[in-house]
Amino acid sequence: AAAGQPAAATAAAPAAPPKAAEPLTILFASESGNSEKLASDVSKLARKQGFKPKVVDFAELDLATLPKVGKLVAIAATWGEGEPPARAVRAYGELMGDGAPRLDGVEFGVLALGDTSYAEFCAIGKALDARFEALGAKRAYDRADLDLDFEKPAADWIKGALKALAPAEAPAGNVVAVDFRAAGGEDEEAELSREPVVVEVIDHVNLNSSRSDKETIHLALEFEDGAPAYEPGDSLEIFPENDPQLVEEILKATGLSGDEALRKALLAERDITTLSPTTVERFAKATGHADAQAFVDSGEVKAWIEGRHLIDLLERFPATLTADHLTTVTRPLPPRAYSIASSRKEVGDEVHLTIAAVRYETHGRARSGVASVHVADRIKNGAKLRVRVKPNKHFRLPSDPATDIIMVGPGTGVAPFRAFVQERRATEAPGRSWLFFGDRHFTHDFLYQLEWQDALEDGSLTQIDVAFSRDQPEKIYVQDRIDAHAAEVVAWLDGGAHFYVCGDAKNMAKDVHAAVVRAFQTVKGLSASDAEAHVASLERAKRYQQDVY
Ligand code: 2AM
Repeated sequence: AAAGQPAAATAAAPAAPPKAAEPLTILFASESGNSEKLASDVSKLARKQGFKPKVVDFAELDLATLPKVGKLVAIAATWGEGEPPARAVRAYGELMGDGAPRLDGVEFGVLALGDTSYAEFCAIGKALDARFEALGAKRAYDRADLDLDFEKPAADWIKGALKALAPAEAPAGNVVAVDFRAAGGEDEEAELSREPVVVEVIDHVNLNSSRSDKETIHLALEFEDGAPAYEPGDSLEIFPENDPQLVEEILKATGLSGDEALRKALLAERDITTLSPTTVERFAKATGHADAQAFVDSGEVKAWIEGRHLIDLLERFPATLTADHLTTVTRPLPPRAYSIASSRKEVGDEVHLTIAAVRYETHGRARSGVASVHVADRIKNGAKLRVRVKPNKHFRLPSDPATDIIMVGPGTGVAPFRAFVQERRATEAPGRSWLFFGDRHFTHDFLYQLEWQDALEDGSLTQIDVAFSRDQPEKIYVQDRIDAHAAEVVAWLDGGAHFYVCGDAKNMAKDVHAAVVRAFQTVKGLSASDAEAHVASLERAKRYQQDVY
């Protein structure tokens, strides 16, 4: 092949691209990286089809540029209870606000990512789609709302959208088949293999004392053929198995107890806990159950499914199902991502995780988090797990090891900071590091307490401040510790320190953000809006980074 052109090259020459490449802006709002990855997929395919693509992160969007983009693809994730990804909050707010510019002349398509196990499925994508139109832009391609198993439908949507957005003279319909995974761009970071691998559990320890009301598992996993090139800040996806007892209950409720193949599928392949309006609709349609259909039509589904799972639906509408019904009704079991708690420079071919077992009761039934309780209850030393690294380039140690870092990680939010401290110890980084940790009780819940003491001694940790919320009558949280140390926090940040927050997105991350804003107000006498603007500038400079869930 080196001697000449492969024969196929002439025979299958693609149609000539249009003369002047059509600019295409690909805007993404990403939290865990899926939308960002898809934006890069769009860009690669668009370039091959003669577009001149430009990928723009919502975090860096200048709204004034939007009216001039011409063609626009927006890919947006919805987070938590219908919120935009943290980094997209500012630009999203501006776009939804009164000051947003008209977008006449813009042609667009929106791809929405979400998770049907949350109430406001794809709310951000839906809102963007409506907003672009309200501002005068023309919808060139219909929105798709995708669940966690988005890969295949996203690839289809991308092909369709690019076809619809292509200029009239372009070889529309003559789309060259492209393997997204293989289409490497020169400017991309080296990508990790995305195939899951099997690892062995070599350590499994409950970090809480037996008297704690929490159970947080420290899990050490070993890669037989060497750990993949993960970095501190990355996550690891676990492919879990469902609770075997719940599988039995479902088989019993559907009259399918004898079906071994189905039992296996329900254990490892189908999401048998999530109950979304889509699940209920599919159930009614697949089974032809008249009462279930009446329930769908009643408009009461959304309120009823709150806190309920598939088993509750099967018990409310008893029906004899087939295995196919169950496959139609459920979605594939998605992997769960956990922030990596180790540095390869310290642990070699291992990866460590910090996983809190999620157990609760709703509507008189005990419920459990699929992956966390699988790990806590059914995984022991020597067991095997399927895992896959999920890179997160928005949560990274400073490139200069002399830069100071402030880390705020209550509960399991401390996980990536164990990785950060290990990395800085292994590389003898001269920068100072300061950890804010919080949990319920000092005596039961001080995760990795001895390790932090060692780190203070060897200098890889400069300072630790702790907030044990339930050791006294009033709550004390990490943000209270930030308040108490406002002057030092501001001094570190003014000196160039990077600030990291990991953990609960709903309350903690917002409260910590407010505490940092407050610190700039009280210490430097800034107005609330100037202090906000200052913290926003730190975010844009990637000096304020969040990994929240
Ligand atoms: P609590 O459970 O006593 O309310 C880790 O879960 C720690 O984070 C716990 O001590 C928990 O306290 C605390 N926490 C709960 N809400 C918080 C918030 N809004 N900000 C900071 N920490 C919070």
